[in-house]
Amino acid sequence: MSNYAARGRTPPHAIMGDDPPSIVLIKEEHQLFRELFDRVEAAEGDALIALAGEIGARLLIHMKIEEDILYPALKEAIGVEEVDEGIVEHQVAGALILDIAGMTGREELFKSKVHVLGEETMHHIDEEDSKLFEPRQGGMEAGQDRSRGPRPATARAPRGALRSPRFHGA
Ligand SMILES: [Fe+2]
Ligand SMILES: [Fe+2]
Repeated sequence: MSNYAARGRTPPHAIMGDDPPSIVLIKEEHQLFRELFDRVEAAEGDALIALAGEIGARLLIHMKIEEDILYPALKEAIGVEEVDEGIVEHQVAGALILDIAGMTGREELFKSKVHVLGEETMHHIDEEDSKLFEPRQGGMEAGQDRSRGPRPATARAPRGALRSPRFHGA
């Protein structure tokens, strides 16, 4: 049985002291997905159907927020191709979620589809944590405590999407 949640407690998946508040929220949700997919591994019948429903609804919202708010700004810092690959992975996951949502849960392939959604999602969020949301690759100084909100505008470097006010609740 997999233990995705354990992986989430180590860097770069763990919340770091200098993560902007928006990335903290995303990483908290990533950890929730790890815990939910750990439960999927052992779930059968109605429990699996309920878990699949909760995961699908949460993932659709999570992906929508990333695409509307985080991804556009990250293109500046990380690069268009890396972010576009994330968007395509969202599209693949979204199609699988809708496929699963259209099932009764009693079909032969239902369990396998939920498990594959888990494998794909774990790969995707691991990449987000280590590449897209890793501020030390995107131009944010390591060791800077951002937990109390935005820095003064004058302290922001001109480049690096993670420095944008939108990442600090402004
Ligand atoms: Fe994502
Ligand atoms: Fe994500």
